Amino acid sequence: MGELKNDRFLRALLKEPVDTTPVWMMRQAGRYLPEYRELRSKAGDFLSLCKNAEFACEVTIQPLERFPLDAAILFSDILTIPDAMGLGLYFETGEGPRFKKIVRTEADVDALPVVKTTSDLDYVLNAVTTIRRELNGRVPLIGFSGSPWTLATYMVEGGSSKDFRHVKAMMYDKPEVMHQLLEKLTLSVIDYLNEQIKAGAQAVQIFDTWGGNLSHAAYQTFSLQYMKKIIDGLIREHDGRKVPVIMFTKGGGQWLPQMADAGADALGLDWTTDIGVARGLVGDKVALQGNMDPSVLYASPATIRKEVESILSAYGNGSGHVFNLGHGIHQFVDPEHAKAFVEAVHELSPKYHQS
Ligand code: CP3
Repeated sequence: MGELKNDRFLRALLKEPVDTTPVWMMRQAGRYLPEYRELRSKAGDFLSLCKNAEFACEVTIQPLERFPLDAAILFSDILTIPDAMGLGLYFETGEGPRFKKIVRTEADVDALPVVKTTSDLDYVLNAVTTIRRELNGRVPLIGFSGSPWTLATYMVEGGSSKDFRHVKAMMYDKPEVMHQLLEKLTLSVIDYLNEQIKAGAQAVQIFDTWGGNLSHAAYQTFSLQYMKKIIDGLIREHDGRKVPVIMFTKGGGQWLPQMADAGADALGLDWTTDIGVARGLVGDKVALQGNMDPSVLYASPATIRKEVESILSAYGNGSGHVFNLGHGIHQFVDPEHAKAFVEAVHELSPKYHQS
């Protein structure tokens, strides 16, 4: 495989010196791009894109053809694991993800297998291999998974939820059943991420989209504890290079000191935390990724540039910052605004990296 031509993303995650702050966008491949919508309609639906390595590869690279991004992210979904456990994932237009089978009882949890990635999710590994070949060292490839808690919310609710009533009831009434479910998910995620790394993922991110919905005590017990266990089980060096781990709990700003001790190389931040304050809280333990409000991309390029500058200056001098949005890019954003965002990070950040 070709030498990595641009490694500033990996270097920043490890707090090694960089010339410019690296930038990528969560959900950078997706519906805001007309070329994505076109390929999706050709493929049939979203899951068909994920399951075909050539399509997944093309979609992964689409945003890189438009913007000078410093990383690519595997085109897939966090819900591939529950799908591989036999729950039957499907997407209802405008409704988000759904499952044919829902997990509500102890017997439901007992019946769930632990996922064996090489046999159950080989299409994801094929996508990783294909994308690495096609990237040819242009930028690093990020692999990813959902956190056990976040996956459990979808499995118990049967899809997206606003109130999390079933999953929270299970957690409070039947904590031992919830722990069993989280345990199976943890083992599945460790295997899934390690296989992605072996197939060529050069960094991995754990998406804990719903951890911030938990109480202070429940976050430690039902989310953080399991992410820590995952991180402890991951391959941290492959092909002679460190494989950095990013842990992203949306809404987790109040737990930064505990999160910094979980063993990750970097923490993702949503936009509700000041990144300078966050840097003070985590010290030298981890790098930070984030954290512009994705809605800023609805504003003009001049406004976007100002917001980028204010986040760069809040982080301050030195490495350890990967610029990103605080959550995924919205589907109604103008791609030209995304371009203004990425270019602003590259144009405005070199002054923070002069030694
Ligand atoms: O970041 C990327 O570009 C890589 C691809 C990626 C997708 N989903 C593609 C996708 C990643 C990293 C994810 C992660 C994911 N999936 C998360 C965690 C991150 C987050 O956003 O909090 C979650 C919670 C999911 C579950 C999921 N998948 C939901 C809730 C939805 C519906 C979203 C919506 O707005 O309708 C999906 C579908 C999905 N995953 C799409 C894409 C591009 C849209 C599918 C389509 O209609 O084309």
